[in-house]
Amino acid sequence: MVALIAGNWKMNGSLSANEALLGALAAGLPGGAAAEVALCVPAPYLAQFRALAAQHTALQAVGLGAQDVSAHAGGAYTGEVSASMLGDFGCRYAIVGHSERRQYHGETDAVVAAKAQQALAHGITPIVCVGETLEQREAGQTFDVVKRQLAAVIHANGPCISEVVVAYEPVWAIGTGKTASAEQAQQVHAVLRAQLQAATAQASRMRIVYGGSMNAGNAAGLLAQPDINGGLIGGASLKAADFLAIIGAAR
Ligand code: 13P
Repeated sequence: MVALIAGNWKMNGSLSANEALLGALAAGLPGGAAAEVALCVPAPYLAQFRALAAQHTALQAVGLGAQDVSAHAGGAYTGEVSASMLGDFGCRYAIVGHSERRQYHGETDAVVAAKAQQALAHGITPIVCVGETLEQREAGQTFDVVKRQLAAVIHANGPCISEVVVAYEPVWAIGTGKTASAEQAQQVHAVLRAQLQAATAQASRMRIVYGGSMNAGNAAGLLAQPDINGGLIGGASLKAADFLAIIGAAR
């Protein structure tokens, strides 16, 4: 299976910084890379990405993604961005249920499931994030937490679940420099794979990616695990050299 290396810029960037970063990425992206590359940029910059991809052909192979999508199709939801709007900008991916949205914006499992439904209905692949807090890990609740989070999305989406990407992002590893060890991550990925297997015959070809302080130094070890099929990268996706090194590690 081709690994997915997806950058999540979070709320970072500016027109000038993006132009420099995307130019450097375009110059360094390996032709015929072993990995599929995606970038989830802030919504206001989707159009800029498309304009730059028209100039830098290397960027045309990069899947454009959003960091969130509305749970609603359209209408009076001030500030929200719908899946059909993301589709207008050529988005291939949308992150849903990132822990920062669960934590700071009160997103429940049901809301995350509805967001995944909206994305799928518009031909956009949701990258469904699950992950436990440090407190939950220490209480031995990791498997229960991630299974509950994924179950909501499986339940709401039926057979379409085979079209999602799952991202395991332990909350304690995000932006902290603490990475789950390759073994810790693999254990959780195997549990998620088994849960998907119970829901769909397609589970073995589904991508389950890891996120949380992934960097040039630890990527190869994580990506070598049998159930880790890529990465969702925050901080290191903001530096071209680091992101390119992670892409290079996916072989
Ligand atoms: P960091 O790579 O900065 O830890 O962020 C991970 C993440 O949250 C990606 O969605």
